[in-house]
Amino acid sequence: MNDIPADPKAHLVQLAETISRDMDQLLADLKAPERLIAAMRHAVLAGGKRLRPVLVLEVAHLLTASTHARTQLPPGAPQVAMALECIHTYSLIHDDLPCMDDDDLRRGQPTVHKAFDEATAILAGDALQALAFELIATCGHPKTPMMMRDLARACGADGMVGGQMLDLAAEGRFGEATEIKDTFALAAMQAMKTGALIEVACTLGAHLALAPEAERQRVARFGQSLGLAFQISDDLLDVNATTDEAGKRTGKDENAGKTTWPGLMGVEGAQQTLDATLADAMATLEPYGDNSASLRYLAESLRHRTR
Ligand code: IPE
Ligand code: IPE
Ligand code: MG
Ligand code: MG
Ligand code: MG
Repeated sequence: MNDIPADPKAHLVQLAETISRDMDQLLADLKAPERLIAAMRHAVLAGGKRLRPVLVLEVAHLLTASTHARTQLPPGAPQVAMALECIHTYSLIHDDLPCMDDDDLRRGQPTVHKAFDEATAILAGDALQALAFELIATCGHPKTPMMMRDLARACGADGMVGGQMLDLAAEGRFGEATEIKDTFALAAMQAMKTGALIEVACTLGAHLALAPEAERQRVARFGQSLGLAFQISDDLLDVNATTDEAGKRTGKDENAGKTTWPGLMGVEGAQQTLDATLADAMATLEPYGDNSASLRYLAESLRHRTR
C-alpha cells in the first residue's frame, strides 16, 4: 500500500484541522436560536484535540485499505466522525457544570456556563447530542442502524453517562462515597466514563469500512486499551500539567475526592500502568504492520501528554 503517511504527526494534525473546519460549517448551517448556536460554537470550536473523530477516520481508513486496497474514505465518514465529536463536546459541557465538576475553563476558554449561563450550557449539550444522531441517521451509509445503536450504547446509561454517575458517586455526592478501592474498580468506572466513546470511535470506523466482525472486534480491543490509556493520561495531566498547558484547570482531582490512577498508586505507578496499557494497545495493531503507523503515533502521543 502506498498511502502510508510519510509524516504521521502532520497527517493527524491535518485531519484534526479538516474536522474542525467541517464542524464550523456544520454549525454555521444550523437553523436554531442564535444564543444556542453561539454556545454550541463556543464549545465545539474552542480547539479540542479531535482525538475521537480522528480515530473514527483513521480506523475507517486502515480497514478500508486492508479489506479493499483502497485509499479513499467511505462515504458518510466525515458525518460519523463529527457525530462523535458532538457527543464528546456535549459530555464536556455537562461535565463542567457547577453540579458536576464545577469548572470554569475548558479548551483554553471559559466553560459554556461561564461564557453564557447554566441553562444555555445544558441546552447546548442537549442539542449537540441530538445533532450527533441526526448526522448519523442522514449519513447515507448502509451500516447506519448499527452505528446508531453502538453510539447510543456508548454514550448512554451503560456507557459514558453511567460512568459519570459512578465517578460522582465515588466522590460521595449521593450519600456515602461508593469506594473505588482497587485498579479493577477504577478501570471499570473509567471504561464507561471515558473508554466507551474511544472504543466506539474504533467500532464506528470499522462499520464505515464494512469490515468483517473479526476486524471490528480487533479494533474495539485497541479502542479499549487506548481508552484506558487516555484516562490514565488525563489523570496524570491533572497532576503534571499546568492549567495554561492543558487549557483546563489542573490539580483539582485530589481535592475533589476523585479516585484516580495517581491517587491509587502514585505518579510513577500510574505512568508504569500507562506504559503497560499502551503496550497492549500497540500489540493489537501488530497484524496491520506499517499501515497502522498513524494509529501508533496517536497512541504514543498519550505517553507524555501536556494537553
Ligand atoms: C477530556 O477529553 C475529557 C476526558 C474524557 C478525560 P479530551 O482531552 O479529548 O478533550 P478535548 O476534546 O481535547 O478538549
Ligand atoms: C470527563 O472526565 C469525562 C467525560 C466528560 C465523560 P474528567 O472530568 O476527568 O475530564 P476533565 O478532566 O474535566 O477534562
Ligand atoms: Mg468529570
Ligand atoms: Mg471534569
Ligand atoms: Mg480529568
